[in-house]
Amino acid sequence: MRVSRQHEWTVSVNQPQQSPPERGLEVRLASRPRGWPTPENFEIAEVPIKRPGPGQLLVRNEVMSVDPYMRGRMNAGRSYVPPFEVGRALEGGAVGEVVADGSGRFRPGQKVVHSLGWREYALVDAGSARVVDPDVAPLGSYLGVLGMVGLTAYVGLFDVAAFTPRDTVFVSAAAGAVGSLVGQMARLRGSPRVIGSAGSAEKVRYLTEELGFDAAFNYKDGPVAEQLGVAAPDGVDVYFDNVGGDHLEAAIEVLNEHGRVACCGAVSQYNAPEPPPGPHNMFKIVTKRLTLKGFIVGDSARRMPDLVNEVGGWLRDGRLRERQTVVRGLRNAPDAFLGMLRGENIGKMLVTL
Ligand SMILES: NC(=O)c1ccc[n+]([C@@H]2O[C@H](COP(=O)([O-])OP(=O)(O)OC[C@H]3O[C@@H](n4cnc5c(N)ncnc54)[C@H](OP(=O)(O)O)[C@@H]3O)[C@@H](O)[C@H]2O)c1
Repeated sequence: MRVSRQHEWTVSVNQPQQSPPERGLEVRLASRPRGWPTPENFEIAEVPIKRPGPGQLLVRNEVMSVDPYMRGRMNAGRSYVPPFEVGRALEGGAVGEVVADGSGRFRPGQKVVHSLGWREYALVDAGSARVVDPDVAPLGSYLGVLGMVGLTAYVGLFDVAAFTPRDTVFVSAAAGAVGSLVGQMARLRGSPRVIGSAGSAEKVRYLTEELGFDAAFNYKDGPVAEQLGVAAPDGVDVYFDNVGGDHLEAAIEVLNEHGRVACCGAVSQYNAPEPPPGPHNMFKIVTKRLTLKGFIVGDSARRMPDLVNEVGGWLRDGRLRERQTVVRGLRNAPDAFLGMLRGENIGKMLVTL
């Protein structure tokens, strides 16, 4: 797998319009994993490219997202999104160029964000596509800081955890897509102390030396509870939980009275064949009067304009940084996904097509 890290994107606009080829590639779910997924759970298929009917547009995908929630969709069973179907193409956020429009609402050449990634060409319902401007931000940012990922950080920190500028904040998976934004947003809104955990020394350095975290630790170096206790001598007021498990247990231990937890995800458990036991210290939720609140970003689309205004401003001023780990080629998308689950990304993991 070829992985390259880059901070800047080169985006080609005004490319000459070409008619789409007859056939294109898509990545399908070949079988449902039990435990950690493997490359054998994916298959690449060549399919005919259909022309758009009324209300549809044909998009040539340029960048697609791989996200932890996709692991849940590989399982059978009901959740907040339907499972992927075996033998069918996977789905997920993507940005691409409109090559043909049957809706009368888009122009060929426009860039749109939509939810049919994992394929070279996507036949998209016009109602589920949104035009994005490559002159305002690189295309990948619409899958990151200016998209679902940024909104998750923004809503989780400011609405769900009800952050105030007095709050010391701890965030796990802090060098990842959501976590790296949570820490920066807390700092920019005035947090006195921002603490992050991540899975390598390189990531810890990135957090403290480049993103302005006040403290960070590698959770693989020793028990999370011990390391967090050292990093947070005065406790924490907000824990943004991306990881669950021992991280949540350690956070409950150091949370101050009336502390809040934004329960965003539990990536440490997504590949567990059986649900692991919960934290042993749940009674401290009572004694410290803690609030733990789960959320799904899709419920908060109304906050998108606020994200674009406030966080877009920080981005323009250079006060907030976005980093991406980019894997090239649709055929490498399964490796990018598996690599993200293993922690090979810094910032947002993306695939360019
Ligand atoms: N609630 C919502 O609406 C919503 C929306 C988006 C995302 N999420 C959740 O937010 C979390 C972060 O998502 P993301 O897109 O920003 O992914 P990400 O952090 O960019 O990538 C996943 C990261 O998880 C870390 N990780 C993997 N196994 C781990 C383990 N056993 N213990 C601790 N860390 C582990 C890895 O980093 P290390 O090297 O640090 O281990 C990896 O880089 C996920 O739990 C995701 O499900 C929730």
